[in-house]
Amino acid sequence: MGSVSHGRRVVLKAALGLGLCFSFMDGVSARADDPRVARPQEGDRFVFPFGDREGQLITVEDLTLGGPQQLAYPMDPHTKVVRNGSTLNLALLVRFDSAQLTEETRALAADGVVAYSAVCTHQGCPVSMWQAQAKTLFCACHASQFDPLDRARVVDGPAPRRLPMLPIKMVDGALTVAGGFTGRVGGERPS
Ligand code: FES
Repeated sequence: MGSVSHGRRVVLKAALGLGLCFSFMDGVSARADDPRVARPQEGDRFVFPFGDREGQLITVEDLTLGGPQQLAYPMDPHTKVVRNGSTLNLALLVRFDSAQLTEETRALAADGVVAYSAVCTHQGCPVSMWQAQAKTLFCACHASQFDPLDRARVVDGPAPRRLPMLPIKMVDGALTVAGGFTGRVGGERPS
C-alpha cells in the first residue's frame, strides 16, 4: 500500500508538471492550418514529449514490457514537425505481449504496443499514472482507470468512455501511426 501511495505521489508530481505544461501550451496561439495542431496523421512517428529526451524518437526498446505507459507526441518524419501545438495530441504508448491483448485491441496494435489518447475522457487531465498491480492507466485528477489490454475500457472512476485508440503499425522497425484516433479526444464539455 505504501509503495502504491508513494508511486502515486511520484507520478502525480509528473501529472502536475504536465498540467503546467498544458497551461503553457494552451497559451500558444496556433493557426488551424499549423501542422503542430493537426491530429496525428498516418505515417507519423512518436517522440518523447518532455524531459531530457524531448523530441527524440521513441522505439519499442524504450517501452517497458507490461507497463507503465510512455507519454508521446506524434511527429511528421519528413518535416520533423512535432504535433505539440495542441494538448489533445498527447498520446501514450504501452508495450505488452501481444497474446495478452483482446482481439480488437491487437488489431490496432503493433508487436504488442498499443497507443491511446493520453487525455482523460472525464475532464481532460493527462493520464500519466500507472497502477502496477491492476495494470491500468490511471488519471490522478479523479481516479479514473482504463484497461490498456482492452481498448482502454473504463474499469473505475467517473470517466464516461474509453480513451480513444490510435492505430499503429511497424514501418522500417519504427512505431508508426496507421490512422486517426478511433473516437473524439478530450474530456466532456460542460453542458
Ligand atoms: S479528469 Fe480524469 S478522472 Fe477526472
